[in-house]
Amino acid sequence: MAVFEKSDKRTCYCAELSAKNVGERVCLMGWVQRQRDLGSLIFIDLRDRTGIVQLAFDENTDKAIFADAFSARSEFVLCAKGVVRHRGEGAVNKNIPTGEIEVAVDEFKILSKAQTPPFEIVENSEVKSELRLKHRYLDLRRPDLSRNILERSKIVKIVRDYYAENGFLDIETPVLVKPTPEGARDYLVPSRVHPGSFYALPQSPQIYKQILMVSGFDRYFQIAKCFRDEDLRADRQPEFTQIDTEMSFVTEDDVMNMHEGFLKRLFKEYMGIEMTEPFVRLTWRECMDRFGSDKPDMRFGFELCNISDEVRDCGFKVFSGAVEAGGSVRAINVKGAADKFSRKEIDALVEFVKTYKAKGLAWYKNNNGEVTSSYAKFLTDEENARILTKLGVEAGDVVFIVADRDKIVFDALGALRCEVAKKLGILKKDEFKFLWVTEFPLFEYDEEEGRYYAMHHPFTAPMDEDIVLLDTDRGAVRAKAYDIVLNGTELGGGSIRIHDAEIQKKMFECLGLDEEAQQNKFGFLLEAFKYGTPPHGGLAFGLDRLVMLILGLDDIRDVIAFPKVQNASELMSMCPAPTDEKALEELCIAVVKGEDKE
Ligand code: AMO
Ligand code: AMP
Repeated sequence: MAVFEKSDKRTCYCAELSAKNVGERVCLMGWVQRQRDLGSLIFIDLRDRTGIVQLAFDENTDKAIFADAFSARSEFVLCAKGVVRHRGEGAVNKNIPTGEIEVAVDEFKILSKAQTPPFEIVENSEVKSELRLKHRYLDLRRPDLSRNILERSKIVKIVRDYYAENGFLDIETPVLVKPTPEGARDYLVPSRVHPGSFYALPQSPQIYKQILMVSGFDRYFQIAKCFRDEDLRADRQPEFTQIDTEMSFVTEDDVMNMHEGFLKRLFKEYMGIEMTEPFVRLTWRECMDRFGSDKPDMRFGFELCNISDEVRDCGFKVFSGAVEAGGSVRAINVKGAADKFSRKEIDALVEFVKTYKAKGLAWYKNNNGEVTSSYAKFLTDEENARILTKLGVEAGDVVFIVADRDKIVFDALGALRCEVAKKLGILKKDEFKFLWVTEFPLFEYDEEEGRYYAMHHPFTAPMDEDIVLLDTDRGAVRAKAYDIVLNGTELGGGSIRIHDAEIQKKMFECLGLDEEAQQNKFGFLLEAFKYGTPPHGGLAFGLDRLVMLILGLDDIRDVIAFPKVQNASELMSMCPAPTDEKALEELCIAVVKGEDKE
């Protein structure tokens, strides 16, 4: 293999070349995408992070170089020097940006050889993801994945520019922190110096950024790694990145406007999309009533309609019984789609809502005057008419109804409206509908545990007019909290914080923490609040989710260089992994093996 020398200086990237460069001498570095041997001519497609350019080798130019080119195989690393020229008549490739030109190579080095890769380095690979993740270094050479990582970096640059220009200081917070009891499960790190004691990896920099406000830094941002030991989904990783921010002397509007400004700037600068209108803002209550979800996709309608009053006294027990039991009966009218849903497809939707704990799905279909329904026969003509009027049903519509406890009705119909839109193929990846959801409940009641949890986190401030309800009607207290939602995904969330030690203590009490527990877990925060705390609030975006949506992707693993799989392992390095006995001994840790654990 050739030596890489001082004189081997790259002059440009492969895909930067075009007909404009014809006649220029260039030096390129890259990987062999493929080599074609046409007897006295050899062509090599050379690839780097920008794309591909064709190298041409002529046997008559230099026999030694030609022999080297002949031996080059896929994924060999090359240094090639030569002159850019037009391709011959009929050889132009319209499919690639550099398709009009090629480089006639007259100096050439193989810098590194490569084994035959376990899969081809091509766009939209069909190869199993396990194999690709095991060889992530090769996977990342694939043009689509490589482009995602490049684009992510460009987006991060815009993030840094915007927040820096608006006076936010980039401050790092620790990664070894005190275990926090709220929210998801912590990743724990044992301390060698303090046997039996543990750090946690931060679920977010929440407390530290608030303390930074107490310290007077006024505006903070950080591209922060966060760790949560929770079940993974397509938009969830155990280790992910937030654009984390906090501001002092602000109200909800100030915080939302600042971050709306960021999103508008990002869309303009990165996507060339000018968003002039303010983003829609809905209270949590309105959001649930209209969409059955606190992160509704606003690209389509099919809004929920409460028909409880219409069916309260009807003879169909499924409906009237649900209202009587304190639940509700709600419906969506999928306008003009009656012919799009066969009986079989409707049956599949019945099964779909059952995964959201709904007991069934009642439906009505008017396919060009031909009426079929799963429930009409249980109601009088008048009762049926009342429902159809309320829903504004016309010929061609199909209606879906769920009767149950409110939570189940919302979950089922909220998901169903998205499922129906997906089935109808009306979701456009290049349409972006932002939504602010405000006035979230401060608490969420956990039926199984029989206690209240903070819906966001325990540092979120209650709305001033609801503070009186903390003692009397906890479930009704609204929070100064807001989420930013994009096309049905929660992109970010934040709140105005409690900045008064007494209210913070009250909040902890509401969450079942007695004085001792408060001191143990959050004593330092309560203490800090005693020394002059500015009113403050903030928000954190999920960076991975933001990049995923902007690039029109469905899985955050495609925008993370080294992601983890479903069971939280990383397949390339194979972690987590057992550690050696000595390390465990030093940490005073004994591992209880499988059977002993029982
Ligand atoms: P929250 O828990 O809502 O708020 O997180 C903020 C945003 O982070 C993203 N996110 C995730 N992305 C990928 N994988 C995950 N497991 C994951 N979990 C969350 C989401 C989410 O909207 N400290 C507060 C913010 C604040 O109040 O300022 C917080 O962490 O996009
Ligand atoms: P059944 O009387 O159980 O045959 O139900 C009649 C129709 O009502 C069927 O279409 C069921 O899917 C539907 N159904 C049953 N339970 C519910 C419910 N809780 N909400 C809405 N529809 C239901």
